[in-house]
Amino acid sequence: MRPVEMCSHTSLLLFVILNVVLVNSSKYQNQRSPRKFPVGFRFGTATAAYQVEGAWNEDGKTESIWDYLTHTNSSAIRDGSNGDIAADSYHLYKRDVEMMRELGLDYYRFSLSWPRILPTAFPDKINEAGVKYYNNLIDEMLKYNIEPIVTIYHWDLPQKLQKMGGWSNPYIIDWYSDFARVCFKLFGHKVKKWITINEPAQICDFGYGRDLLAPMLQIPGVADYLCARNLLLAHAKAYHIYDKEFRPKQNGAIFITLSAQFYSYEFGKYKEAALEANDFNWAIYSYPIFSKTGDFPPSMKKRVARKSAEQGFFRSRLPELNPEEIAFIKGTSDYFGLNHYFSFYVYRNDSVNGMFETPSTDDDLGVATYFGEGWQIGESNATMFVPKGFYYLLTKIRNDYNNPPVLVTENGFATRGGLRDDDRVTYYRYYISAMLDAIAEGSDIRAYTAWSMMDNFEWAAGYTERFGLYEVDFSSPNRTRTPRKSAFIYKQIVRTRELDWDYEPESYVMTIDKGH
Ligand SMILES: *[C@@H]1O[C@H](CO)[C@@H](O)[C@H](O)[C@H]1NC(C)=O
Ligand SMILES: *[C@@H]1O[C@H](CO)[C@@H](O)[C@H](O)[C@H]1NC(C)=O
Ligand SMILES: *[C@@H]1O[C@H](CO)[C@@H](O)[C@H](O)[C@H]1NC(C)=O
Ligand SMILES: *[C@@H]1O[C@H](CO)[C@@H](O)[C@H](O)[C@H]1NC(C)=O
Repeated sequence: MRPVEMCSHTSLLLFVILNVVLVNSSKYQNQRSPRKFPVGFRFGTATAAYQVEGAWNEDGKTESIWDYLTHTNSSAIRDGSNGDIAADSYHLYKRDVEMMRELGLDYYRFSLSWPRILPTAFPDKINEAGVKYYNNLIDEMLKYNIEPIVTIYHWDLPQKLQKMGGWSNPYIIDWYSDFARVCFKLFGHKVKKWITINEPAQICDFGYGRDLLAPMLQIPGVADYLCARNLLLAHAKAYHIYDKEFRPKQNGAIFITLSAQFYSYEFGKYKEAALEANDFNWAIYSYPIFSKTGDFPPSMKKRVARKSAEQGFFRSRLPELNPEEIAFIKGTSDYFGLNHYFSFYVYRNDSVNGMFETPSTDDDLGVATYFGEGWQIGESNATMFVPKGFYYLLTKIRNDYNNPPVLVTENGFATRGGLRDDDRVTYYRYYISAMLDAIAEGSDIRAYTAWSMMDNFEWAAGYTERFGLYEVDFSSPNRTRTPRKSAFIYKQIVRTRELDWDYEPESYVMTIDKGH
């Protein structure tokens, strides 16, 4: 056990240094005895609409930016695939709920497809067939006491709105919050946890700054920052609508989910660079919502304003939030929804100058990243194995934002497939243990979500990266789901509320044994 954490920056840095030492000496040993979870701690798994549903043009659904991208750009997806059918959850939702029961989940996190519910993108026309699909799924879950946690927006923007600029158009604040209001009205009597938006940094940076996600706009240092501003205001508007008009009757919670990788350093001189890398990569969204002052992180405002001036811009490329906007955004999340996968080391020295396109977020930040030795386990390098990074990230969130209640809304590991996924088992055990370390030191973490319940369309990686506890046979029209070893390990954790490092499943037959 580590000494009890003191709420100061110095102790955080001390832990970061310890992290480096521990990771490097590869003697990282967590407590190996069985570890209990706090009473009331909850477990789930997650998916997203475009990644599992399929039925891309069925029953009145219209085109999303992912339909458009996969159908028009043959080089955009690593294996040339798309989500036209994906795991076919649109038709196989009963099997999906069966898997939730096999795993004994407390909840399941899934997302709503905007163009399935609103085919015109606007609330003038509601697609009853789409609504019926989500009602069927939710009702089937509730029948077995599995709580729905619903993401309103998980990346599948109506293509029509993209033609009008998508998240770079300030009118998205209305378009998105109108959609959110429709969702509250349609499902709010049954759904008590809403996630407004999944992973803003990936939406804006990867989609508007780079060519890693739809719409692959590639206007870095400009469109990504416009997207960030509009997205924060859209999220906040949905929060206020729920808080004022729906919460009094529906009594639920609403929050945002951020993906935060942890940026650390091997050499003390890069301490500030690491702090700023965390600011640029995810605190751009958490600071405006969870900090005492609100607004974008000071380090970002300063660096982008200086660079912009040097480059001949008349104002900072990072839009200024006025005092009303800052107040409107601050405090608009009932939980800190956290997705986390791995960590980076950073450095910043002369060799970084000129490394990046100008202007760009990378150039504004001015740090280079790399992976530590021994961080890669398994065949895939889509995720690295750095459990300590998760612990330091959770500690940083506790210290920076006065210990907000955290729901881990995604964590997981990619393989190339196969049922014997020992690397994934290792990953889950160590990451869950790192989370328990943070909890032991006072972090208010209330839930853990494995990404993903089943293999699915992994965005630009297509079907080459497999994240599922269940394997999906994408060559079969039935999209047969088969539990991997990790499914049995996770089931045991959920059933016993305990992390047992040595548990080996006796049989590889999945049965439903939740008491209902
Ligand atoms: C197609 O995808 C690639 C990424 O693989 C991207 O660089 C390119 O800009 C895209 N083309 C269009 C027209 O969006
Ligand atoms: C900058 O740091 C990197 C990583 O430590 C190192 O490889 C490189 O040689 C350094 N370059 C300069 C110019 O200091
Ligand atoms: C995996 O890492 C290798 C070497 O660092 C790199 O060349 C390759 O592009 C990476 N693959 C993926 C899928 O990120
Ligand atoms: C698909 O499911 C049907 C109905 O359950 C079954 O008859 C068929 O053999 C299955 N096909 C494959 C390829 O698994």
